[in-house]
Amino acid sequence: MLDPAIHRLRRERLQREVSGPILLMGNGTRARNLPMNHLPFRQDSTFLYFLGYAGPDAAALIEDGETTLFLPIPGDDDELWHGPTPSPEQVGAGLGIRDVRDIATLDTHLAGRTVKSLAVADATANRRAAAWAGPLVFGRTYGDPELVASVIGMRRNKSEAELTEMRRAAAISARAHRAAMAATRPGESERALAVLFEAVLGLHGAVPGYGTILTRRGEVLHNHGHDGVLESGDLLLLDGGGEVDTGYGVDITRTWPVSGTFSGRQRAAYDAVLEAELASIALCTIGRRYKEVHDASSRVLAQFLIDEGLAHGSVDTIVASGAQALFFPHGVGHHLGMDVHDLENFGDLPSYPSGRGRPNQFGTENLRLDLPLEAGWVVTIEPGFYVVPAILRDGTLRERFAGQVDFDKAEAWLGFGGIRIEDDIHVSHDGPEVLTYAVPKKPEEVESLVGTAPPIATRLC
Ligand code: GLY
Ligand code: MN
Ligand code: MN
Repeated sequence: MLDPAIHRLRRERLQREVSGPILLMGNGTRARNLPMNHLPFRQDSTFLYFLGYAGPDAAALIEDGETTLFLPIPGDDDELWHGPTPSPEQVGAGLGIRDVRDIATLDTHLAGRTVKSLAVADATANRRAAAWAGPLVFGRTYGDPELVASVIGMRRNKSEAELTEMRRAAAISARAHRAAMAATRPGESERALAVLFEAVLGLHGAVPGYGTILTRRGEVLHNHGHDGVLESGDLLLLDGGGEVDTGYGVDITRTWPVSGTFSGRQRAAYDAVLEAELASIALCTIGRRYKEVHDASSRVLAQFLIDEGLAHGSVDTIVASGAQALFFPHGVGHHLGMDVHDLENFGDLPSYPSGRGRPNQFGTENLRLDLPLEAGWVVTIEPGFYVVPAILRDGTLRERFAGQVDFDKAEAWLGFGGIRIEDDIHVSHDGPEVLTYAVPKKPEEVESLVGTAPPIATRLC
């Protein structure tokens, strides 16, 4: 847990920046079938950021320099089922908040009043807050604009205490990535490797910060299935990161050959993605527009397409038309912090200047961030090269890029899969700091680690 003084200072700044009473809602649990059998709970990140309280069904009123925390009060038989729970006073003492009340009193406490609030993922909490704050619909209305702007400004710039938490998450996640690399061999299942990856996170006090992507079909960008069995010629893509108890996490992707040796074609593509990644990372400096960071990766990948005969023309003409996006169809990264796409519950507000939206071009329409970078921001850099049948066989795209892309040559790459390399970069006064440096990515390092651990089944059962 962070020092409660950090949360208090955050609330004080919030009050200086936002006029009037502020009601922050926490998330509630979601039942799987009946209330006591619920889906895994995760607190709303903004609530956690200002209160440090990770339990469900809470709310906080911040007003006139004071914070009132509203919590569910355990019922008479609660101890029987859940063990002893701390009293509201004990919770308040731990959080440095004197005024802690029963959440059941929130309605009477706020009756007839107007507050500023934010939409959270929990629809019940939004409906409740809407009585005093106006409509709050997750993903559609973000909440009071002044409050939203202040929260974005605060959460986007990471303090040293936050960076320490992210470095902690990175160190744990590096162990988990290395363990998965070492346990990879033909015949192993994606599921066993995903279990191992998440077990190593758990052993070191972290949980997955997002659904682990571990797949031999890396061209399916957000492939959360783990049903595959690895074959010798496969590439394995692992996009996974742990989150520590304070809510801060990392977002790391590595791709490696199941056999322990890249084929010639795999190695050429891997080298290009790594060169693209390093080029983009080098540009993560204060004041640099993020679109330029994206373009640096696009240019390296365009040159690779030319070298392989997959595209014709110059790097400039390819990047101008966006043809490289047929093999790199997403943006080079996004904000990172307490959420994997940090602050994207506020849409593009944290990531684009007002009045300017995403580019209207295949590929860069998925660029999630385009602002000049600021000191203290943490962003991901994650270029990739993917051979996606749905893209290469799309009639409209084939027509549009017929003069630049050799689709016959591209057909010969079908079945290649995908490669992504992703690191998390702190934009600092000393230049780009790679928080996730401890996960191997040099091809020789990756190759020499694959297959060096005993089979998972012999270790687990
Ligand atoms: N893990 C999802 C992403 O990299 O954006
Ligand atoms: Mn990412
Ligand atoms: Mn990722």
